[in-house]
Amino acid sequence: MRRKLAAGNWKMNGSPAALTDLDALADAATGDTEVLVCPPATLIAQARARCGAIAIGGQDCHSATSGAHTGDLSAAMLRDAGATHVILGHSERRADHGETDALVAAKTVAAWDAGLTAIVCVGETLDDRDAGKTLDVIGAQLAHSLPDGATDANTVIAYEPVWAIGTGKVPTSAQIAEVHSFLRAALVQRLGNETASAIRLLYGGSVKPTNAAEIFGVTDVDGALVGGASLTADDFTPIITALNMA
Ligand code: 13P
Repeated sequence: MRRKLAAGNWKMNGSPAALTDLDALADAATGDTEVLVCPPATLIAQARARCGAIAIGGQDCHSATSGAHTGDLSAAMLRDAGATHVILGHSERRADHGETDALVAAKTVAAWDAGLTAIVCVGETLDDRDAGKTLDVIGAQLAHSLPDGATDANTVIAYEPVWAIGTGKVPTSAQIAEVHSFLRAALVQRLGNETASAIRLLYGGSVKPTNAAEIFGVTDVDGALVGGASLTADDFTPIITALNMA
């Protein structure tokens, strides 16, 4: 049985005052669902101190352990601040910072070495989808962004179609099912049935209280990576509740 995971990615949003919303989330974080919030790195320590029932994660880390990398953070720094997870290879980092699959793989190794669970993101653009290349693109991203050595303890995979992020557009349940079953099969081929079956697959992209139950009803969807709707407890709590009930 895979434990469900409701993960919030605050991106470059939030403030110390916004952490009060974590208190309400902690009440929802009961039952079979693990709740994770990934605030900006500057808030990780405060978020960790505030709320024990919720896991706290980072949104990126460097691939190196230390050195002359102005403005960057190592995986161990995130861990020392209280993070247990880190999002890697988000499409916004791939687009804004030119991150390649190889770099994402190197960051994933760094995260594992620091004892963090890596949430490795993959997803096609609208052009990829319109050209019928969705599974090819996602297959290549998974193959090259995920290093050897993935386990259910150190890795979560997030499928985030780029065209669904922040747009209010959501793939159909059939489209989500197709990608998630493809990802599961690719993991089985690479890691064997036992490990692959235990790795959680999240869907991300315009998950809202209004569509969460339908998305969580899709086979092989083990939770969500939520952006905008994770910023307030009013929006995130019903999503967590929908996952609890799925
Ligand atoms: P939205 O939920 O705002 O579409 O963002 C999804 C996302 O990118 C989460 O990582």
